[in-house]
Amino acid sequence: MSGGILMCPLELPKFTKSYWRKERSNKTYPPLTENLTTDVCIIGAGIAGVTAAYVLANEGVTVHVIEGSKIVSGTTGFTTAKITAQHGVIYDELIQTFGKNEASQYFDANQKAREQIKKWIDSLSIDCDFEERHAVLYAQTPQGVEQLHTEKAAYDQLGILGELSTSKEELPFPVSETLTIPDQAQFHPVKYINGLVKEAQKLGVTFYEDTRAKSLREDDDEVFIETMEGHIIKAKQALVTSHFPFNDKEGFYFSRLSPQRSYAVCVRVPSEQMTGMYINVEKPSRSIRTAKGDKGESYVIVGGEGHKTGQHDDDSHDESTVQRYETLTQFAKQHFQVESIDTHWSAQDYETLDRLPYIGEMSSSSSHVFLATGFSKWGMTNGTTAGLLLADLAQNKFNPCKDLYSPTRSKIKKEDAKHFVKINANVAKELVTGKFDRPTDSVDDLKNDEGRIVMVDNHKTGAYKDKNGQLHLVKPTCTHLGCDVHWNDGERTWDCPCHGSRFSYKGEVLEGPAVKPLERK
Ligand code: FES
Repeated sequence: MSGGILMCPLELPKFTKSYWRKERSNKTYPPLTENLTTDVCIIGAGIAGVTAAYVLANEGVTVHVIEGSKIVSGTTGFTTAKITAQHGVIYDELIQTFGKNEASQYFDANQKAREQIKKWIDSLSIDCDFEERHAVLYAQTPQGVEQLHTEKAAYDQLGILGELSTSKEELPFPVSETLTIPDQAQFHPVKYINGLVKEAQKLGVTFYEDTRAKSLREDDDEVFIETMEGHIIKAKQALVTSHFPFNDKEGFYFSRLSPQRSYAVCVRVPSEQMTGMYINVEKPSRSIRTAKGDKGESYVIVGGEGHKTGQHDDDSHDESTVQRYETLTQFAKQHFQVESIDTHWSAQDYETLDRLPYIGEMSSSSSHVFLATGFSKWGMTNGTTAGLLLADLAQNKFNPCKDLYSPTRSKIKKEDAKHFVKINANVAKELVTGKFDRPTDSVDDLKNDEGRIVMVDNHKTGAYKDKNGQLHLVKPTCTHLGCDVHWNDGERTWDCPCHGSRFSYKGEVLEGPAVKPLERK
């Protein structure tokens, strides 16, 4: 670890890098180079896929895992890594939408996930900086306090141990009231997943990196997965844990998932600042936790500034990605004794219409293909729940949460229906307005390290001029369903405002649902 030693320690480092990904072991896995046959093929090696792989292998199932990029290179490697059943303000809403039993099941499933993570860390001796911490919601306005009280009433109905407090908390800024769930946890997600991968390998699981799935076909009792390189995996079951389902043909997940980006900065501080993990109820959102470096250094991670991918709507800002990092950095500097800014990064999450993940059969006509998606920024427990449930479903075992998480669940309340309409109206707007926008700039207007939509030979073109002045030109039409992509100045990527596909400045796919790169010019 760098220990946060930077040339200009109080300025943002030039390139984004997740604090957790700095620690990634150098171990790499070869890509798939031949056809193969297996019991279960898992597509996507984040927390859900790796958890399912470990559980299945433990039960004697033959498992092969393919990952389009590197293990833990998706959202699991870019989270704030809180292991908690306190998912913001949620339980009152779940009671209203689903009822008391289902809300209680959700809490229990997340608590069970937390306990399972802890059990594996202990029994498999995974060294991943696991620390038990209280999870704390805080409010700074009368409206926020009201929300906390409503949520506490929901806790009481469900028997959740939670405590309201108006006493001065350890946060270095004024807080009106807090709501705490005790005995939750935080950890280092990449160390944890690497540990679980190692154990899964010992049980016979084979992992392939840089192996992206292109298509999937179910035929009687078999599933055929084709990779971008043309290799075929024949499996009895397929688990799609690729974040956004790459094979979304029948489930129409793109119309039921909202892609969200959020940001984090990690700052070095002189000593440990807090013993809890915090998140506010108001906007703009602020998620705060501590982390410990390998040499005992103390860090604070501040997350927030979320918005829909490729757009600027949720937190009422119209800011570039760089400005969002600056805002979080200013927040950290204002409230903590910042010695240096270690790193900063962003993550992509998918939110469902009703806040519960979709975990289960891909569609009503799929009996051998299962998926997990829509963890709504709480991927450590939701992802573990998904892995455990998928492993049961793949073995046709009973799991009490099957109906709760079923992607074909039917309970939907008026607000969710409105949300559905809003998501899709927004997509329709992007599809139309994007086509009529005519940029006036040309490539000559670009400075080094700048990207923009410009006109080239009378065609709209996505242009990025790199630090050496070299131009990289792409057709700015998303290869999923054709929306126009937007430039992301903080990550140097092209982001699609419709369903969240993201592409490098060279056009390579970074996040689905798109599977084909942008056309290069
Ligand atoms: Fe669907 Fe781009 S992600 S159109």
